[in-house]
Amino acid sequence: MTRLTSHVFAALSACLYIRAVTSASVAISRTGWTATADSFETGNEPAKALDGNASSLWHSKYTPAPPDTLPNWIAVDMKATFNIHAISIQPRPSGNSNGRIGGHKIEISMDNTSWQTVAIGTFNNDATTKKTTFVTRQARYIKVTATSEAQNSVNQWTSVAEINVFHDVTGSTPTPYTAPVSGKGLWEKTINFPLVPAAVSLLTNGKVLMWSAFARDTFGGANGFTQTGIYDPATGQSSQLEVANTQHDMFCPGISLDFNGRVIVTGGSNAAKTSIYDPAGNAWTGASNMQIARGYQSTATCSDGRVFNIGGSWSGGSGGKNGEIYDPTSNTWSLLSGALVSPMLTADVGGVFRSDNHAWLFGWKSKTVFQAGPSIAMNWYDTVGSGTTTGAGNRLDDGHAMNGNAIMYDAPAGKILTAGGAQNYEDSDARTNAYVITLGAPKTNPTVAKTQSMTYARGFANGVVLPDGTVFVTGGQSRVKPFQDATAALIPELWNPGTGTWTQLNPMAIPRTYHSVAILLPDATVFQGGGGLCGASCAFNHFDAEIFVPPYLLNADGTRRTRPTINTVASTVNIGATLSITTNAAVSSFSLVRFGTATHTVNTDQRRIPLTPSGSGTSYTVVVPSDPGVALPGYWLLFAINSSGTPSVGKIIKVTL
Ligand SMILES: *[C@@H]1O[C@H](CO)[C@@H](O)[C@H](O)[C@H]1NC(C)=O
Ligand SMILES: *[C@@H]1O[C@H](CO)[C@@H](O)[C@H](O)[C@H]1NC(C)=O
Ligand SMILES: *[C@@H]1O[C@H](CO)[C@@H](O)[C@H](O)[C@H]1NC(C)=O
Repeated sequence: MTRLTSHVFAALSACLYIRAVTSASVAISRTGWTATADSFETGNEPAKALDGNASSLWHSKYTPAPPDTLPNWIAVDMKATFNIHAISIQPRPSGNSNGRIGGHKIEISMDNTSWQTVAIGTFNNDATTKKTTFVTRQARYIKVTATSEAQNSVNQWTSVAEINVFHDVTGSTPTPYTAPVSGKGLWEKTINFPLVPAAVSLLTNGKVLMWSAFARDTFGGANGFTQTGIYDPATGQSSQLEVANTQHDMFCPGISLDFNGRVIVTGGSNAAKTSIYDPAGNAWTGASNMQIARGYQSTATCSDGRVFNIGGSWSGGSGGKNGEIYDPTSNTWSLLSGALVSPMLTADVGGVFRSDNHAWLFGWKSKTVFQAGPSIAMNWYDTVGSGTTTGAGNRLDDGHAMNGNAIMYDAPAGKILTAGGAQNYEDSDARTNAYVITLGAPKTNPTVAKTQSMTYARGFANGVVLPDGTVFVTGGQSRVKPFQDATAALIPELWNPGTGTWTQLNPMAIPRTYHSVAILLPDATVFQGGGGLCGASCAFNHFDAEIFVPPYLLNADGTRRTRPTINTVASTVNIGATLSITTNAAVSSFSLVRFGTATHTVNTDQRRIPLTPSGSGTSYTVVVPSDPGVALPGYWLLFAINSSGTPSVGKIIKVTL
């Protein structure tokens, strides 16, 4: 019986394996399809977007002047229902960029009446075909609405050369539709960007700053400028800005948010540079150069507001990348000769170029920084004076866990979850291992306990703490290989601190491996984007994000739950002080989640504080922890959570020293 079962299972696995390797994303034949549009120019009818001739276009009406104004839309009737997962929009051939779509929304429908948004965003002004991938849905109609032209914000024209719609085919058979599983969250929509977001930060206005490198789609060299953008979750649109005034190609940087919500970006391609984005003035300014040039270093904001920095041999020379610290008040970097990089090296086959990369740092009490990995050895760094280093033991039976994740999900209790990672930076099998580290007094060994391992081995994944204290680990791949999406984990997992167990959630549509990022958004959804940044001919560039809606926001039928709301709360609070909060309904708990930043698996800014309220009904008070090493000053999101576990939208609160 056992033999038979395992034999059947093996056959089934083989069969699944064959299905996986032969299924493909295929453009559906457009024979018989029709298109309509809000307007068209004679000779540029909507059907021209379906005719297979990229030189013939649909163009919105522009004669006699003035042209038909934006938004303009084109809708396609596929004449039958398909299980679709991607739509491509080919702009008119290069040479004339009039009407190329910039801002846009892509919707689908079964009946031509009720429309669901599957993608929204902003395309760059270029002639490449823009293929938008999303979680498979059933549809007969698709509609593309242009909200701005790509080349400038004045023109009212819209043009499209070709539209194609894709479904998944196994052999010659369309893959059957599988609805998302109830209770496992939803990948709601795809956001298109004009660049690959390889680095992101939440901003004090609730928008998301993102950047790639000197180019939108590739990196290399110290070019002195960076392609950036700001995504606005309220509109789905992104602005674009080439930042050159700081002479800093900010690819592969360290990132930290200071006490004022400013984004401190260090090193990378221009390895000695420091650039600061201040959301208050929406401006980038150059700051002092670091004492040691670095790329792939990590930084962490300390309890006194200075920013600790260590490692980073990917750029600026190899080895000897001991600690240094930035004082934002005096704009100076000072070496910490006693903060040694040697105890935090992994044993990477790539040598020190790889072994001092991407430290898992946490600013903690009394101006210390705890380094939880990726080396199996953990360390304390004291940032006072010239700094000291104190060993903190090993993560039990873990190995070196390069490009794994470490997430402080309960700061007052000193709790950090670690997950995944691999022995070497590349060409290495990732692990499923997960541990809970509990910090106590600085410079004493923390306790480490193994928790359930993930189902999927992951390196290059991202970890995001959610308002309820669960930890969402998403993306990555089981064999780490930069610039490849093979072995990508499409199924995210949610770790429950109460049970110490992982739950698999619904799969995303787009692999997120090397150069992918994920952060919590103020509305308690998760932004997961990027991946690739490997050149125009590379197939693994992901100019997009998918938005994940966690189970706590959904009813059993997939519709959104009604959420509690925070009606009033102060926008600033001191550490140790009491916050008074009014809500629209009874809630059972509150939490603060510090703003996140992410690049290359590192997010040293996010951390969560659970808050136990006094009060009842619609009026509560909570006390913010008094230690700045725990309630690290800066910008946080305050969530109210009711007894069903449903969080409010987060209120942006500045915690001050
Ligand atoms: C494609 O469209 C262009 C522009 O309308 C036209 O000049 C050309 O003849 C078309 N090519 C074919 C093969 O129909
Ligand atoms: C779908 O709706 C559009 C806009 O209302 C209309 O022009 C078009 O004829 C409709 N298509 C079908 C097949 O009903
Ligand atoms: C949680 O809040 C939502 C929205 O207010 C509500 O539908 C749900 O019933 C609440 N659950 C409890 C137990 O209060």
